[in-house]
Amino acid sequence: MNILVTGANGQLGNEMRILAKNSVDKYVFTDVADASEESIVMLKKLAGDDINTETVHLDITKLDAIRDVVKSEQIDAIVNCAAYTNVDAAEDNYDLAELLNAKAPENLAIAMKDINGLLVHISTDYVFGGDPYNTPCKEDQKCNPTGVYGFTKLHGEQNIQTTGVDYLIFRTAWLYSEFGKNFVKTMLNLTATKPQLKVVFDQVGTPTYALDLADAIITAIEDYKMEWNLKRETWNYSKTGIYHFSNEGVCSWYDFTKMIAEYSGHTDCNIQPCHSDEFPSPVKRPAFSVLDKTKAKGTFGLEIPFWTESLKKCLHNVK
Ligand SMILES: NC(=O)c1ccc[n+]([C@@H]2O[C@H](COP(=O)([O-])OP(=O)(O)OC[C@H]3O[C@@H](n4cnc5c(N)ncnc54)[C@H](OP(=O)(O)O)[C@@H]3O)[C@@H](O)[C@H]2O)c1
Repeated sequence: MNILVTGANGQLGNEMRILAKNSVDKYVFTDVADASEESIVMLKKLAGDDINTETVHLDITKLDAIRDVVKSEQIDAIVNCAAYTNVDAAEDNYDLAELLNAKAPENLAIAMKDINGLLVHISTDYVFGGDPYNTPCKEDQKCNPTGVYGFTKLHGEQNIQTTGVDYLIFRTAWLYSEFGKNFVKTMLNLTATKPQLKVVFDQVGTPTYALDLADAIITAIEDYKMEWNLKRETWNYSKTGIYHFSNEGVCSWYDFTKMIAEYSGHTDCNIQPCHSDEFPSPVKRPAFSVLDKTKAKGTFGLEIPFWTESLKKCLHNVK
């Protein structure tokens, strides 16, 4: 198969580059700009000098440009790793967030619908949060976002579904990786340099190592390929739908930070738990955003690592 990855220079996109190296499929990596020097160095460190660091420029807000690449590269499936991911800034940038998180995924879905292909899209636990709950969220739980990011991501899911394309939407949470800016890298730095730190303990969820999510995406694509090989004109993928994915386990941001410091040997930093209201934010974040992964595990036979195991691996790579 020929697979196009959008947002290839973000956290998840870079992990897709690493896993695609050993794939029999042809991958085309796209983004709005070239990969940063820092990312290229990390990619080579993790996957060797022959890793594909090239970026085909593609702005996914432009449907014609997507159709051109799909045609010229004979694309069969798209993995959409691009998004407007700045949760706080989205509050003042509704139009841009809606364009990237809702209209652009619709463009990708239309392009895949044209050729009866597959769209793999990533969504978020922020589609929940408005209603109080304290059990892990299942895929059919009523969505009720609290801010612009969550609303626009929900619109993206709905737009994809409206096109009638074959799709896999993975809702994930607390994503981190060796690439770009994320909570793990921030806390790695702060616990090394600050004598004390306060971190919220009243928001609970599960971290997701982007490499584990990329692995789940590739496993799901392998499943799709088994049906795709028997493809008929009227064929539709039997497992089209929404799936939840994070690492296993549950923790607060405070617990997460404690483990980052412990695994990194940053024992001099005094880390204390605090309430969310000590760090005012433009967006109310979900207090309990644990995702129930039963459906994804059952459908694709995923074996998902416990969050501390994956954290150790990522920290080892970053240090
Ligand atoms: N990060 C999290 O904690 C988290 C949690 C739950 C779900 N998710 C979802 O997981 C997915 C992957 O997130 P991530 O953290 O890997 O994202 P990321 O690191 O922010 O990467 C997104 C990439 O998309 C690119 N992009 C921006 N505008 C584009 C456009 N018009 N056309 C094509 N590409 C464009 C960005 O380029 P520039 O950097 O140059 O703008 C960036 O390289 C997203 O759908 C996100 O909503 C993330």
